[in-house]
Amino acid sequence: MTKVWIMNPQTIEAADSGLQEAARWLREGKRVAFPTETVYGLGADARSAEAVAGIFAAKGRPSDNPLIVHIADRSQLGDLTDADRLDETSRRLMDAFWPGPLTLVLPAKPGAVAANVTAGLPTVAVRMPDHPVALRLIEAAGCPVAAPSANRSGRPSPTRASHVLADLDGLIDGIVDGGPTGVGVESTVVEVVDGVVHVLRPGGVSAEELRRVAGRVEARGELSAALARSGEGRPSSGQLAEEEAAPKSPGMKYAHYAPRGRLTVVSGDSPDRISAWIREQLRKASAEGERTGVLTFEEHCEQYGSEADVVVTAGSLKSPETVARNLYGALRSFDEQNVTVIYAEALEEEGIGLAVMNRLLKAAGHRIKLV
Ligand code: TXA
Ligand code: MG
Repeated sequence: MTKVWIMNPQTIEAADSGLQEAARWLREGKRVAFPTETVYGLGADARSAEAVAGIFAAKGRPSDNPLIVHIADRSQLGDLTDADRLDETSRRLMDAFWPGPLTLVLPAKPGAVAANVTAGLPTVAVRMPDHPVALRLIEAAGCPVAAPSANRSGRPSPTRASHVLADLDGLIDGIVDGGPTGVGVESTVVEVVDGVVHVLRPGGVSAEELRRVAGRVEARGELSAALARSGEGRPSSGQLAEEEAAPKSPGMKYAHYAPRGRLTVVSGDSPDRISAWIREQLRKASAEGERTGVLTFEEHCEQYGSEADVVVTAGSLKSPETVARNLYGALRSFDEQNVTVIYAEALEEEGIGLAVMNRLLKAAGHRIKLV
């Protein structure tokens, strides 16, 4: 029921017959999943309310969570927003990071996209993905393409075509399989207000990278916010105030990215203390008949061999990019192995580490332990 086209990103050409067919299907109002540099997206013609409704239905997505509109060329921007009145900071960000994993929330041109794309908001989120298959597909479709991540709502986002099929086979019309994605976590969503860049969702472009291009960038620490929420830490009132004041992406309030097992994130200054605490929890959980898992790093993976049923290594602590690339696949692998209780080591919130911690903490339902 779901058609699969296989395409090689290195050699794909606009004339490819599969690409042309997938593009025609998008134009005809069908739902087609495709790879981007971040995660797989589930695409539909952003101008068609009916096609977009099909995305919400397939994902089981709440209708008040707006979608990102994908374009292949800056010339398409004028169809979505008043491009002549674009603020200087947004323009600089596009120059620096497009195509790439940065989404900008901009004032929407009335009627430019179907109302369900923006969930009725006066703004529209726009991004130009840095992936040859995505760019050629959007170009060939000739329309702005609304595309959330191609997972069932609440599940980890898909970084391979097999993840998309695991969630949506039979529920969508087609999928372009372009191999595994590169970045592994979604785009950074920003909104510029009075020259200040507000990070609504951390992602593939780090706060540090944004700061190099735009002077003032407001991004919140995920760990301190989660600790404050859980009562685990004692953050300054400043941190709490910042969290409450930060404008949020509507989507960030929903449970997200979660494996089926009960996940807890473990943080602290001492790696030895962290692994000792986790090992103790693993022993207890095993004694209670749970199937246990640990999400860890290359440097620590030997610590858990005998204690956990499943040990997943997301990459080296020295390469947060690798950890980001492997994160969602790692979370899904616990499900594939029927793990019921999972402990995950925290990562430094530097660079893309901030996005990793954002997703991990959401996947854990903000269950965090400071040891
Ligand atoms: O990397 C990505 O961004 C992937 C790929 C497929 O491009 N897409 C993606 O879409 O992650 P989705 O739907 O899973 O997440 C879109 C996020 C949500 O948090 C949503 O609330 C936010 O963008 N968003 C969309 N439109 C918005 C708007 N007008 N104002 C504020 N936030 C918005
Ligand atoms: Mg998503």
